[in-house]
Parts: sequence; structure tokens; C-alpha cells
Amino acid sequence: MFEGDSLIDWVDRLSENDFVVIDDFLTEPLFEKLRAFFLSKLVQEDFAIAGVGTLSNHQIAPDIRKDFIYWINREEDTVTKEVFLLIDKLIQVLREYCFLSISDSEFHLAHYPKGAYYHRHIDQFKDRGNRLISVIVYLNENWDKGDGGELKVYTNDKTHIIEPIGKRLVLFKSNAVPHEVMKTNVSRYSLTGWLLNKPANVGCFVV
Ligand code: OGA
Ligand code: MN
Repeated sequence: MFEGDSLIDWVDRLSENDFVVIDDFLTEPLFEKLRAFFLSKLVQEDFAIAGVGTLSNHQIAPDIRKDFIYWINREEDTVTKEVFLLIDKLIQVLREYCFLSISDSEFHLAHYPKGAYYHRHIDQFKDRGNRLISVIVYLNENWDKGDGGELKVYTNDKTHIIEPIGKRLVLFKSNAVPHEVMKTNVSRYSLTGWLLNKPANVGCFVV
């Protein structure tokens, strides 16, 4: 995905449609490794209920979203090293071909238990406009039609239904693409993050 026609193709699609879906972003061994990491964090009960808004304006809103998240610490969570090497390559490509000034990133694991959803939103905080690109990598084994939890993406003229199939990568422009996670009928796993043009903590503090 980082070379030749397929690179040109997905960069074009991201520029034209504001989003792109890339299958088999993860290799099988990397997928297994990340799933094992995910499951270990679940067992250790390291996930916390997700909220909406930044630090100064953060609230739990189960009417809007019902997922649980674990923020990754790159230094401590050393098993994620390999996937971040891949994500760093991705960032290089976006800098080079899309002229994006990405200077930081933030990533979490997301667990949507059966019945969870995230209603229509965009990935930009009112008081912290530093998210450029949203990155989602699905970690679901054997996702099947009927399992639910599809990502619904809204563009000017259409809605697009994206199945949360394991190893699949989705990229979209954080401030331009309304989207939602439809109710899931099974546990739904992903690695989700944002590529930022300012450090992660900018604008997070109450002044
Ligand atoms: C989010 C989000 C989409 C997905 O976490 O902000 O919209 O498919 N996730 O998990
Ligand atoms: Mn989102």
C-alpha cells in the first residue's frame, strides 16, 4: 500500500472523497499480535467508558456513544511498536503526497460491547481543532453480515457503509466527514487514532 499504483490510488481517493478504505493493512501475524494485546487489556480491565468533549468539557454521554477505550502509551505498550512503524510510514506518505503537516498522533483501543454504538458526529472538538486525519484499524476476527457495528460515512452526495473487517484500515479527514458507528450485535474491536497538526495536549487545559 506504500508503493506504486495502489499508493497513488488510495491517496487520490482520500483527496477526492475525503475518506478511503484499505484492506489488509495489517499482516496476519501483526493482526494476531494486536488482538492478543487488545484481549490482555480487556482482561486487565484497563478500558474506561468513553466520553465526549475535551478535558475542560468532557462528559459521559451514553445517549451519544457507548464504547470503552484504552489510550495507548507508546513507551509502555511496547508490543504496539510494529504497528506504529507502519503508521509512521503512513504519516510519511500523507506528508509527502497530501502536504499534511502532521506533528503528533494519539491512539486508543476501542471496545464496543454488544449493543454499543456511536451516533453521527465529526472527530473535531470545539476547543481543540488539531485533528487532521482519523485512522481506524479493525481487529475483528471473522466479522459476519448481521454482526452490525458498521461504520457509516456521510459524504456530500452519498452514505457509505463500511464493514469492520479485521486488518482493514479506514482513513478520513477528521473535520470534514460526519460518520457514525451502527449498533453492534457482537463485541467490536478496533485501534483508533488521530494524526494531529499540533501536540495532543494543546487546548486541553482549563484556563
Ligand atoms: C470514533 C469513531 C469509528 C469506528 O472513535 O470517533 O468514530 O469505526 N470510530 O470505530
Ligand atoms: Mn469518530
